[in-house]
Amino acid sequence: MELLLPILLGFLACLVGGLYLLGVFRQRRPGEPPLDKGLIPWLGHVLEFRRNTLKFLERMAKKHGEIFTVQLGGFYITFVQDPFSFGGFVKESRDKLDFRKVALHLAHRVFGYKAVEGERRILRISSNKHLKGEGLEEVTQAFMSNLQNMMLHNIGSAAEDRTWKEDGLFRYSYNVVFRAGYLALFGNVPHKSEQREHAAKHVTPGLIGEDQLFPRLAYGVLPPMEKLAAERLKTYDRVKSIDMSMINRYMFVLLWASQSNIGPSSFWLLLFLMKHPEAMKAVKEEVDKVLKESGQEVRPGGPMVNLTREMLLKTPILDSAVEENLRLTAAPLLTRAVIKDMTFKMADGREYLLRKGDRIAIFPFSSVQHDPEIHPEPHSFKYDRFLNPDGTKKTDFYKAGKKVKYYTMPWGSGVSMCPGRFFATSELKQFVFLIVYDFGAHTSPKKTDPWSLCWV
Ligand code: HEM
Repeated sequence: MELLLPILLGFLACLVGGLYLLGVFRQRRPGEPPLDKGLIPWLGHVLEFRRNTLKFLERMAKKHGEIFTVQLGGFYITFVQDPFSFGGFVKESRDKLDFRKVALHLAHRVFGYKAVEGERRILRISSNKHLKGEGLEEVTQAFMSNLQNMMLHNIGSAAEDRTWKEDGLFRYSYNVVFRAGYLALFGNVPHKSEQREHAAKHVTPGLIGEDQLFPRLAYGVLPPMEKLAAERLKTYDRVKSIDMSMINRYMFVLLWASQSNIGPSSFWLLLFLMKHPEAMKAVKEEVDKVLKESGQEVRPGGPMVNLTREMLLKTPILDSAVEENLRLTAAPLLTRAVIKDMTFKMADGREYLLRKGDRIAIFPFSSVQHDPEIHPEPHSFKYDRFLNPDGTKKTDFYKAGKKVKYYTMPWGSGVSMCPGRFFATSELKQFVFLIVYDFGAHTSPKKTDPWSLCWV
């Protein structure tokens, strides 16, 4: 009996300590946003959040208002849903709200990557060098030439082999854009060499997974079989099979960052254009005009088209269609780690206390991009939504009579804003240029599915 009591007390202390660590005893303190922990300790609402983020956040906003804290897989995350208050999130100093901590946590969990010193600096310098100005021009040219090789010259099939082929839109779009983008950013072999053809054939989107692996890994809710697959991914089994000795985990993180969104985006853009003949017609007329002005034409098997950055800057209609496509489909969850106890100020003057160790996030997909007040008929594709009647870019959007600064945020904002956004936009536009300019994608007699693509 004498022995049993200390054991019992020890067990109880461990239990209480464990529950404390699981966040079971956390209570809302005065001045903090409404707290919703969910029913399951530690996991909180993560399963519902993963199942349908949009619905979950709408439900929480209805229940708690424009700011609330929820428990998700061990983290307490405060969501700000009011677009007028995004400035406080985007512009807050790094010593209070830090993106890097969140990004490194994800990169480590997903890719087993541990930060090396100066990595942010390297990323900034190399992005400025290769994804802006002259560097951007070069990488755009490289992408164009790769894309034409894939689409018009059909790498991997001999001339006598040229018969109608049919493929699903998603597979086709992801494949060509991924391969061309991969070679433009990571390729180091001379243009039109045998190695390049080899690389073009062996690099596939499967490298980074077309599945839901990344998001599920990120929230730590992978089932055992997929966890195993993820571990294999970290040891590079799939990457080793292609000849890229320079590759390392950081390159893999960059590969994911640069390629995971562009394939799906190109697919959606093509699908929207195919489903909206008036949009396809307007875009095609614009493309025709730009190509004619440059004295060129796109022909399967014909000479390469020289599509310069300058030409790509003369397409306001296509720009608007690309922006509308991203408004409808890009759904980044922008997150910062709360580095010290702080006060968050809402646009209407309300102030909320945030705790050190928590996170704060915005999800513009629901709070801005699909808000019917900011974007009437938010679920429809309107190719000219971002065009003024005089053909210039439209940037004036309103909610409750007030101008909204962050009216669409597919690239994020502030310190973590996508450094590849200019290149990505150019990739999407080049893909559409070649597709709409009759590159050989016709309705063949053999075509079986209206949403597939046939080409020779
Ligand atoms: C449609 C295509 C793309 C979309 C929608 C997209 C979107 C985003 C978003 C929303 C972020 C910020 C994430 C956050 O704040 O949590 C981001 C970060 C990033 N993106 Fe993109 N991106 C695209 C294509 C690209 C391309 C083509 C590249 C490279 C050439 C690229 C390179 C990066 C990198 C390196 C980061 C991390 C930035 C950092 O750590 O500060 N992205 N992207």
